[in-house]
Amino acid sequence: MSLSSEDSGRDDRTSVTVVIFGATGDLTRRKLIPALYNNFRKGRLDHVKRVIGFARREWSDEYFIDQAKSGAIEFSGETFSDDTWSEFSRLLHYHTGDLDSSEAFDSLARYLDEVEKGDEARLYYLATMPELYTTICTELHAHGMTEELHAERRIVIEKPFGRDGESARALDDAVHSAFAEHQVFRIDHYLGKETAQNLLFLRFANTIFEPIWNRRYVENVQITVAETVDVGTRAGYYDTSGVLRDMFQNHLLQLLALTAMEPPASLKADDVRNEKAKVLSAVQPVHPKDAIRAQYRGYVDADRVAPDSTTPTYAAMKLYVNTWRWHGVPFYLRSGKALCSKTSEIIIRFQAPPGTLFDLDASEGYTSNTISICIQPREGTHVKYQVKVPDGGGASRSVDMSFDYRRSFPDNPIPDAYERLLLDAINGDASLFARSDDIRFSWDIIDPILRRWESSDSESLPEEERPLPLTYYDRGSWGPAEADELLARAGHRWQLGCLEAGGEEGCIEITD
Ligand code: BG6
Repeated sequence: MSLSSEDSGRDDRTSVTVVIFGATGDLTRRKLIPALYNNFRKGRLDHVKRVIGFARREWSDEYFIDQAKSGAIEFSGETFSDDTWSEFSRLLHYHTGDLDSSEAFDSLARYLDEVEKGDEARLYYLATMPELYTTICTELHAHGMTEELHAERRIVIEKPFGRDGESARALDDAVHSAFAEHQVFRIDHYLGKETAQNLLFLRFANTIFEPIWNRRYVENVQITVAETVDVGTRAGYYDTSGVLRDMFQNHLLQLLALTAMEPPASLKADDVRNEKAKVLSAVQPVHPKDAIRAQYRGYVDADRVAPDSTTPTYAAMKLYVNTWRWHGVPFYLRSGKALCSKTSEIIIRFQAPPGTLFDLDASEGYTSNTISICIQPREGTHVKYQVKVPDGGGASRSVDMSFDYRRSFPDNPIPDAYERLLLDAINGDASLFARSDDIRFSWDIIDPILRRWESSDSESLPEEERPLPLTYYDRGSWGPAEADELLARAGHRWQLGCLEAGGEEGCIEITD
């Protein structure tokens, strides 16, 4: 599996055809082509025989290749080389067709039968609007293109997986009427980030962390995914979605699952995913007063945002994972747009030791031990611990023990998440993809909050069940004061171990 396997050098693999639906869109150019190109460059795609772009526009092979090349140059960094590109580009082909027309699928099926030599596996990648997912699955099924008679047929689906539990179930039913679960790869690009995967290595490849990773020693856990960008050109989509659907239902809950899961029996896809699903299913309903929602000032002035929009661009919440390991430990999650700095980090804050020997509270900047896992942009980990100040009498101070990916591995640049995930999907390794039950349990957590926030008569609810009102925050701030109060009520405070360790205390300037 991807967390452990050797990716290259195997020539016993079934040949694969990759078909990208919606190949003229941004995702193909920005992410999929650079990811395929980089895997090719690293010698990992010997078994991929062709990549077929399929979309409505009447492009030629040459034009598709030109577009793909400009994407590869722009987004694959310094690794682009004309020689490698000319070899890679031989794999690229384009086929025109309306994604909602049965004739187009007839023609695609015939085309694939012609070009494939014998029993080749296929990966269908849906890089289209989600509204087309059901039709595409139905057509693929109707044309016999989902059956695994001689070789695998896999499908990759991008989020959103529905806009609530009910629509997610309907989507799942539609997908499952064409594909079995083992054929379905639901992509969450946070799981493809090296640092998210490193959580498993940090926890389970070391002796010093795992024994203290539980309610006996941990005071609270914090997951922050902060962005400086605002909704930009995606305002139309975002305004109907909001931060819970855009970031929490997927990325934040997946990070929570990796942080809180039990050691899996093996690194096989289902062993890992079983443990993640257990965590998500053990999350207790979030109390209405423990979910904060806010919107940055000026959001409603963006194009395609309703002038009276109440869509939250920021949320913070406290939740509990009711397992033996985590009983009673608060997990604080927050994410927002137009914030002070870009950082995705997970903080494990440990309880303070008994104060029988040292007056730690009185020491300069004392914080009990924390492990900060820096997902991005300064990938690494930091452990904060207490040392004696030299010649300082009884004074102590918190210092940082740090590991920085880029410094420790200067010759191994961190690949884009899509590079890892696309390769895994091609190779049929589903361990870093969300499973149907993950999605269901995630919606079970998010749905009740959304229902309260989006209800038109929440005022009629008993006070205890009423959601907190939408508040506002300044662009370039750390979000609303209510989010700080959420932690302060329990004597906690938000921490930013990765930013602090990088010496970045100030906010970066946000411009329109
Ligand atoms: C996407 C969201 O899934 O993740 C975006 O739709 C968000 O709104 C993005 O900006 C964040 O991803 P990353 O990798 O930049 O943290």
